[in-house]
Amino acid sequence: MRVTFLGHACFEVESEAGRVLLDPWLAGNPQAARSPDEVQADAILLTHGHGDHVGDTVAIAKRLGIPVVAVYELATLLGWEGVETHAMHIGGSAEYPFGRVKFTHATHGTGMVDDERRTIRYAGTAAGVLYSAGGKTVLHLGDTGLTSDLALVGRRHAIDLALVPIGDNFTMGPEDAAEAVRMLGAKRAVPCHYNTFPPIRQDPSRFVAAVAGAAEVTVLAPGEGLTI
Ligand code: NI
Ligand code: MN
Repeated sequence: MRVTFLGHACFEVESEAGRVLLDPWLAGNPQAARSPDEVQADAILLTHGHGDHVGDTVAIAKRLGIPVVAVYELATLLGWEGVETHAMHIGGSAEYPFGRVKFTHATHGTGMVDDERRTIRYAGTAAGVLYSAGGKTVLHLGDTGLTSDLALVGRRHAIDLALVPIGDNFTMGPEDAAEAVRMLGAKRAVPCHYNTFPPIRQDPSRFVAAVAGAAEVTVLAPGEGLTI
């Protein structure tokens, strides 16, 4: 399985089962390693309804004619935009041609901001996405604070790679993120959701130090990837 960091919380995951994009915010993402016009995928998996995660989902899904997998309320909102969706919810899993998806608990908000109407459209609950394909399992934690539920996820699933927000302010900071990695028992970890905006400026070496060898940490620059 090849996992490529495309900036902020966006990852491309490729295996013999296919290629998926997680949280494809690219246009307007100062870290974006690709443009929304050039990415290729068989499906889009979303952790939650915030703009820095939904991003270019509708445009990419329409251009490629691919489905979007999200929690029910977010899937409904995106379905109204004219894209094919597969609605799921936290704790549920489903098998797709491109792999197995399970939604895990995240401690975070979610909602789609409509600036013109000054409303926030309810988008369900924030989640993490556990994705298994080609014999490997990767957990995108989404945006979350430290929560003991992660220990349950680690007890139930062997996690080859955890994609962990470390930016602080909106999510876990480096030390809480390291504790999450330990609770998950993940073999490897890649930090994300940092250095995109001033409030989440962060030194990833703090995360590496805090994990302290409990997992193999790889710090990826946008555009870089690793094979697990
Ligand atoms: Ni968020
Ligand atoms: Mn976010």
